[in-house]
Amino acid sequence: MKYVDFPNSLELIASKITPNKSRVINVANQKGGVGKSTIVRLLPTILSMLGFKCLVIDLDMQANATKSFFVTRNYLHEDELTIFEKTLMKGIAEGSIKGLAIDITENLHFIPSAMDLESFPTFLSKKFGLVDIGDSNYYQVKELQYEYFQTLIDEVKSDYDFVFFDTPPSASDFTKASSYVSDYVLIAFQTQSDSLDGAVDYLGTTLTNLNNNMNTHFQVLGVLPNQYNNKKIDTTTINDAKNIFGEDNVFSNILPNITEIQNIPRDGLINDSYWNARMYKMVAPVVEEFLTRIYLAEEE
Ligand SMILES: Nc1ncnc2c1ncn2[C@@H]1O[C@H](COP(=O)(O)OP(=O)(O)OP(=O)(O)O)[C@@H](O)[C@H]1O
Ligand SMILES: [Mg+2]
Repeated sequence: MKYVDFPNSLELIASKITPNKSRVINVANQKGGVGKSTIVRLLPTILSMLGFKCLVIDLDMQANATKSFFVTRNYLHEDELTIFEKTLMKGIAEGSIKGLAIDITENLHFIPSAMDLESFPTFLSKKFGLVDIGDSNYYQVKELQYEYFQTLIDEVKSDYDFVFFDTPPSASDFTKASSYVSDYVLIAFQTQSDSLDGAVDYLGTTLTNLNNNMNTHFQVLGVLPNQYNNKKIDTTTINDAKNIFGEDNVFSNILPNITEIQNIPRDGLINDSYWNARMYKMVAPVVEEFLTRIYLAEEE
């Protein structure tokens, strides 16, 4: 990948981030089509260009992030077949996900999603017990399930500065387990749709319940508005988000509507055209704020 000329302010904050420290980040919203996979494609790619080692774990069976990472890898390693011997689910079932990461570049790795991931909730129930939300031991058993997932993530995260989860649009074991093991949760919403409701529900109900009933350690890094079109509805939705979550919790740098983003699934995350370099530069302020928020959180 060619190097994109990022602003000095981005390079500066990147240089202030503590090295050799892993951060696990869950990108979530229980509504679909709000930009989760887009963020999980772009942020780690730019962070990897800045020199950070990044891993993306795709927990969404739609495999949108997975597909575009495969396209990218095939483009960059034309002469080499991308093979993976074991699925993420098989790794989870066998008790280790070490060695499953596929390298796109030296700094950017991913663990692909596959259809067998469907059995993740059933596997956890079989191993640790089946519980219903009304059961008195519900959170106790769920915590055992998610703690198991934590041991698998702990085993791989030390190789990376940032580990990102792409998640399906649901409040399910996928998004709860990924929040449970995360240091930060980044909530995405789209400025023209009712995806703000999904953000409110995820933060207000799903994450609050996890936090109140389990030994979680995540903090909400912020709510990131996506696909901003500079229309009245976009501004209204962002103001609504600020009123609901508090101004400081909403990213002030937002992801604009960028046509090139829609080409990523077909073309991959390449960086050899003017238009792609332009896309990365447009996303750079969001990465800068992301790193600033991490920096401030770690300073506390
Ligand atoms: N900032 C943007 N500019 C232009 N297009 C965008 C932007 N963000 C997302 N899109 C497009 O909107 C669609 C949905 O985005 P994305 O797949 O990232 O959402 P998602 O939250 O991951 O969806 P799902 O919940 O189904 O996984 C995609 O076609 C994507 O290319
Ligand atoms: Mg997605």
